[in-house]
Amino acid sequence: GKVGVLYGGKSAEREVSLVSGKAVCEALKSRGVDAHLFDTGINDPARLQDERFDRVFIALHGRYGEDGCMQGMLEQMQIPYTGSGVLASAIAMDKIMTKRLWLAEGLPTPRYVELKADSDSGKVMAHLGLPLIVKPAHEGSTLGLTRVKQADQLADAYALASKYDRSVLAEEFIKGMELTCAILELDGKPQTLPLIRIIAPDANYDYHNKYFNDKTRYLCPCGLDAETEEKIRQCALKSYQALGCRGWGRVDVILRASDNEPFLLELNSSPGMTGHSLVPMAARQAGLSYEDLCLTLLQSATL
Ligand code: DAL
Ligand code: MG
Repeated sequence: GKVGVLYGGKSAEREVSLVSGKAVCEALKSRGVDAHLFDTGINDPARLQDERFDRVFIALHGRYGEDGCMQGMLEQMQIPYTGSGVLASAIAMDKIMTKRLWLAEGLPTPRYVELKADSDSGKVMAHLGLPLIVKPAHEGSTLGLTRVKQADQLADAYALASKYDRSVLAEEFIKGMELTCAILELDGKPQTLPLIRIIAPDANYDYHNKYFNDKTRYLCPCGLDAETEEKIRQCALKSYQALGCRGWGRVDVILRASDNEPFLLELNSSPGMTGHSLVPMAARQAGLSYEDLCLTLLQSATL
């Protein structure tokens, strides 16, 4: 039947999604799927019904696409879609709610506080130490994020993050190795893919170093011993199950240098699918081409 690839959208990650969507659509077409791009930022999503898509591939990132809004609309229209449902999407998009659920399940995640305009910076720093991370609760691709190194930077960091979101968090900075774990459901069972290690210039994996800097390096296989890799993959899998995710996802993790313990940063329920993106890289390592990955995801589309 007819397949819609939802892309673009209205979030701050629109540009990334445009690239993801085009790549997914090309891959599906190359395998004979009757796939059509649909930009939910330009077209009224209410028109999805008129398009008579039999199912859709969600290649949207960020708000209105990854956060449960689009998923709710598709439920209403009874159009099967890839990835997590309404609730898990909404929780995963909210870094504070995500942490609350992980902590309730005993899963490790850096300490944090919700930051308000009138937060006592002395208390925040006493609790989290320096450096610390300030970021909007509902944003992706590290937009609006600051690594605060001195007390007097906290106010500016808060001001920047609040431009993106009314909900802002400050998080303990954990020194260690940056890793990401892709999760893919095969035959209805979530499986972790090989870990990817990310080495960014100045250990700063920000928006620029994610998408534009060719000095950022990605190692897959990641180079860790098998036991440590397995421990991290198990932790990532539990974090996915704790949020009730479905279809696929990607969990960002820091492996603390001092004791080799993993800490969960966030879960992306609609991860990047550009040619350079990480889930495709991990899938390739597991023997799954980009086209096969897209087909596998499409087949998992459900209501
Ligand atoms: N938020 C970006 C798209 C990612 O996680 O890949
Ligand atoms: Mg993210």
